[in-house]
Amino acid sequence: MNQLQGETIAAAASSSNLGSYDEAYANFNWDEIEKQFSWYVTGKVNLAYEAIDRHVDAGKGAKIALRFTDQSRDEAYTFEDLQALSNQFANVLHSYGITKGDRVFVFMPRSPELYVSLLGIIKVGAVVGPLFEAFMETAVKDRLEDSGAVALVTTPTLLSRVKRNELPSLKTIFVAGEEIEVSEGIVDYHAEMAEASTDCEIEWVNREDGLILHYTSGSTGKPKGVYHVHNAMLQHYYTGKVVLDLQEDDIYWCTADPGWVTGTSYGIFAPWLHGVTNVIRGGRFTPGDWYNTIQNNKVTIWYSAPTAFRMFMGAGEDIVKQYNLSSLRHILSVGEPLNPEVVRWGNKVYGRRIHDTWWMTETGGQLICNYSSMPIKPGSMGKPVPGIQAAIIDDNGKILPPNRMGNLAIRTPWPSMMRLIWNNAPKYEEYFRIPGWYISGDTAFMDEDGYFWFQGRIDDVINSSGERIGPFEVESKLVEHPAVAEAGVIGKPDPVRGEIIKAFISLREGYSPSAELKEEIAKFVKEGLSAHAAPREIEFKDKLPKTRSGKIMRRVLKAWELNLPAGDLSTIED
Ligand code: WTA
Repeated sequence: MNQLQGETIAAAASSSNLGSYDEAYANFNWDEIEKQFSWYVTGKVNLAYEAIDRHVDAGKGAKIALRFTDQSRDEAYTFEDLQALSNQFANVLHSYGITKGDRVFVFMPRSPELYVSLLGIIKVGAVVGPLFEAFMETAVKDRLEDSGAVALVTTPTLLSRVKRNELPSLKTIFVAGEEIEVSEGIVDYHAEMAEASTDCEIEWVNREDGLILHYTSGSTGKPKGVYHVHNAMLQHYYTGKVVLDLQEDDIYWCTADPGWVTGTSYGIFAPWLHGVTNVIRGGRFTPGDWYNTIQNNKVTIWYSAPTAFRMFMGAGEDIVKQYNLSSLRHILSVGEPLNPEVVRWGNKVYGRRIHDTWWMTETGGQLICNYSSMPIKPGSMGKPVPGIQAAIIDDNGKILPPNRMGNLAIRTPWPSMMRLIWNNAPKYEEYFRIPGWYISGDTAFMDEDGYFWFQGRIDDVINSSGERIGPFEVESKLVEHPAVAEAGVIGKPDPVRGEIIKAFISLREGYSPSAELKEEIAKFVKEGLSAHAAPREIEFKDKLPKTRSGKIMRRVLKAWELNLPAGDLSTIED
C-alpha cells in the first residue's frame, strides 16, 4: 500500500520508562496505574491536587514547576509557589460564589497568571474553559454562550472582545493587568489575589466530575464543547510516563497554547502529574527564539507540531548549528501528518528521532504513538498506547485486515475519553454510532507490523498549522460581510501549514471582484472570528455549486481547486 512501509529508524533510547512495547502492551492493566495516585488511598480526587500539592506534600515543594519566558518576562515558580497562588485564586473564586460544576473560562495570552487561574478553577471543582487568545468577538461569544459560563479571567486588551451585554450568565470578569477600573462585574485580579489567603480547602470531586471544556470544530454547525472529567488524569499520567518518557530531572517543553487540548493535557497536566519542570514560552515564533529556549533552559523533552518542524526545516541546518541543543533527548510531534522527510531531516540535523503521536480533542490523551524504545517507520503514527485497542473498521463496524483503508476507530471506553459534547447529545452519539467503538473521523490503514498510517479526514474539517477549523464557522462569518452573497470554504494543500483556508465567494448585486475587496473580506474574518480562521486565499465565482436543498458542495470546490474529477453530481442544483 505504501512504499515507505519498509523504512525504519531504529530505537535510540538505551533505557526508557516503557521498555519493550510488546511486553507493556500485553501486560497492561489500568488498575495498576490507578494505584499511583494519592486518591487510591485517600479517596480524595482533584487533578490540581495531584499535579501540584501532592509534590509539596511529598517534600518537593522547592522544585521549579514552571519556567516562564516571553519578550518581557523571565520567571520561575516552584511547586510551593504554584500551590500558594492557585489556592489564592481558588479563594477569590469562592468569594464570588463560584463552585463545583460552574463553567469558568480563561481568555488570555500565555502567562503565569493563566496557569495559576486554570489550576485555581480546577481546585474549586469548576470546569475550566480555555480560549485561544486570537479569538475575536464572535468566537468568544459563541463559546461563552454555549457553555453558560459564569465567570471569565482575561486581560485588559482582550476584555474589549467580550460582549458582556449579550451574555446574561456571565456574572464576573477577573481582569489581570495594571490599573483596572473596577465596576459592576469587573474585578481587579491582582488586587483580589493580594488579599486572598494562601490556604484553601480543595473541593474533592468524583472521578467522573467535570474538569475541562475544550471547544473544537466540526464540519457543520458551531464549535462543539468537548467535556472531559478528572478521571482523564489516568491517561495523562500514563502517557506522560511511556510516551513523553518523563523522568524526575527532565526539563519539558510543550509548545502548544492551552487554548488547544495539547496545551492542557500535555502542556499542564501530564508534566505536572509527574512533578517535572515545565517550560512555557509566550510570544511569537521564530526558529532562533525557539532554539534559544531549548539552549537556555536545557530542555530535554520537546513536544511540538509538524508545521513548526517544517518551518525549522525551511530555515535550514546552519541556524541549528548556532545553538547548543545537546540537552534534548526526546522529541515528539502532534496535530497533523508528520511528513517522512521531516522525520529524516530531524534525525540527521538534531541527531534525534521525532516521535509522532496521534490523538484528538475528543480523546483527551494520546492514543497511537511512537515510543523511544520502538523502531519508527517515517510517515506512520505508530502503534496504540498500551491499554488502547485501535482498529480500522468499515462503516458497518467490521474490522478490516492489514493494509486496507477505513475508519480509524478506538474500542470504548478509555480514561480520558470525552464524556459529553456540551448541549449536543446527538453530536456526541455520532462518534459512537457503531456499538463498542469511537469513530474518529480520520481514515487510516494498519500495516502487517501493526503500525497505523494516517490517510485523511472523512469530513470537511480543515487542519491548518495543526489547528482544526470548521468550514461552517468561517462561511457563516463570510456571509455577514455586506459584499458576500454566498461562501464555501475548503482546505488547500500547503507545504508548510499542511492546509490553508481557501474561500470561494459569490458577490451580491452591486459589488465587483477586486484585490481590495479580497483583502477587506479576509480582514473582516480575522477581526470578527480569529486570525487563524481567516482565508489566505479568496476566489470570486459567479455561482457556487449547491445541492438541490441549497447546501454548498465543498467537495466540488475542492475538486475544482485540485483539478480532480468532481465525483457524483446527481444532487447538484443545475
Ligand atoms: C489530526 C490535536 C495525522 C487528525 C491533539 C485528528 C493528526 C485531528 C495527528 C485532531 C497525527 C492529530 N497525524 N493527523 N499524528 N494528530 N491529527 O482535536 O485529523 O486539534 O482527527 O487534536 O488532527 O485535532 P485536535
